[in-house]
Amino acid sequence: MASAGLSRSTSARISYRSVSVNSPRISGYTQRKWMVPGTFFNALVLSFFLFSLILVLGCIIYLYWFRYLARGGSGVVSEFSGSAEGCDVFEGNWVLDDSYPLYNSSVCPFVERGFNCLANGRKDTDYLRWRWKPWRCDMPRFDAHEILERLRGKRIVFVGDSMSRTQWESLICLLMTAVEDPHSVFEVNGNKISKTIQFLGVQFSSFNFTVEFFRSVFLVQQVLPPRHSPKRVKMSLKLDKMDDINRRWVDSDILIFNSGHWWTPAKLFDMGCYFQVGGSVKLGMSITSAFRMALETWASWVEFSINANKTHVFFRTFEPSHWSGSGQKACEVTTRPTLEAKGNHRSEFSDIIAEVVANMSVPVTVLNVTLMGAYRSDAHIGTWSHPASILDCSHWCLPGVPDAWNELVFASLYGHGWR
Ligand SMILES: *[C@@H]1O[C@H](CO)[C@@H](O)[C@H](O)[C@H]1NC(C)=O
Ligand SMILES: *[C@@H]1O[C@H](CO)[C@@H](O)[C@H](O)[C@H]1NC(C)=O
Ligand SMILES: *[C@@H]1O[C@H](CO)[C@@H](O)[C@H](O)[C@H]1NC(C)=O
Ligand SMILES: *[C@@H]1O[C@H](CO)[C@@H](O)[C@H](O)[C@H]1NC(C)=O
Ligand SMILES: *[C@@H]1O[C@H](CO)[C@@H](O)[C@H](O)[C@H]1NC(C)=O
Repeated sequence: MASAGLSRSTSARISYRSVSVNSPRISGYTQRKWMVPGTFFNALVLSFFLFSLILVLGCIIYLYWFRYLARGGSGVVSEFSGSAEGCDVFEGNWVLDDSYPLYNSSVCPFVERGFNCLANGRKDTDYLRWRWKPWRCDMPRFDAHEILERLRGKRIVFVGDSMSRTQWESLICLLMTAVEDPHSVFEVNGNKISKTIQFLGVQFSSFNFTVEFFRSVFLVQQVLPPRHSPKRVKMSLKLDKMDDINRRWVDSDILIFNSGHWWTPAKLFDMGCYFQVGGSVKLGMSITSAFRMALETWASWVEFSINANKTHVFFRTFEPSHWSGSGQKACEVTTRPTLEAKGNHRSEFSDIIAEVVANMSVPVTVLNVTLMGAYRSDAHIGTWSHPASILDCSHWCLPGVPDAWNELVFASLYGHGWR
């Protein structure tokens, strides 16, 4: 396992400093001064130096010992926390790890062609080998065998846009690495993956569980506008009504949402879609106010319809894209992650999600993945899309970033004493 240390972790920083103390040039210089025959002052300096050295070494030994123990036992898991106390798993960096990727997308029938960059001609392969490393803890490794066992009899449901579909594909592939007979895993209606399909349900028949995807890009109802609306209003989004298919999300064990990428003027107003509250169309309403209102509708729905004793609810934050150039039309995929968060890593949508969830009376885990994606200018689809004419600096290659979202989901479940 090679750590590329994009941004150095605390322990690495400490050991780096101790190395420079012992480095030949510096120690030669200091030794010469200390060779001057012993005054009391020199002895004092010497003992102070020795004391500091022991302290630093002690810290290093403690840190490594602690981390070693944590990695071996269940200590890692109990450290999980999405909050400021303990370890914020969403703050960290990507480190090179030769045990990645966790699956081969060419042998997983559930990676859609458009996300399989290798199959679409990408030649560099470093982008496949990055593992997400929180600064103050390690993520538990994704143990497909164990997770398959734990999922027996359960339903995992993803709801949202194409980013949720990618995560759905990623999870199926991660789990399939531990399934003996690939034919025992199938889409329940025999459907193929497409961009517009409303429902996909994959059954792991040997383990009696399903991983489902519902396309609901706004989470609320999109309908024909009320009569006598202005002519430009072709559709409306009912901000106070959940998407019709919500009943099928209820009886799940793990329920993971996202929304945000369709809340743009181009996908709304330019298509003649406006917002509606009650019976009236709100022509002047801003997209962010509308998004907040839709999320509050979602929050009430969760509180009213979801049995928190059974269902673990997650909401994933907005994904940064890495479009560049004039008019944000260019897409230059790098070969390595960037050292600094690039792209639109501050997202008002992510902030709204956090604010709405913070105000809820049932537990919902925010998967705050916006920042971690912002480093990954190397992980987008770019020109390795399908059909090849599409340039894509929004979606991610598989294997890739969405695998880390799934690792975070299970890290969180384990951290919360998942049964
Ligand atoms: C993935 O599987 C394909 C088909 O079996 C194989 O040709 C390819 O070498 C594999 N790729 C990796 C990275 O293992
Ligand atoms: C499969 O799981 C369901 C719960 O989702 C359960 O009712 C059913 O009995 C299970 N079937 C088998 C064969 O274990
Ligand atoms: C959930 O569990 C709590 C405590 O065990 C119990 O009081 C409550 O009635 C349960 N709620 C539902 C909806 O089952
Ligand atoms: C998400 O994480 C980033 C980096 O840790 C932090 O700055 C931001 O406030 C977090 N946002 C939410 C919604 O928790
Ligand atoms: C939280 O909820 C209360 C009452 O339900 C509401 O008055 C308040 O505006 C909410 N705050 C946020 C940040 O949504």
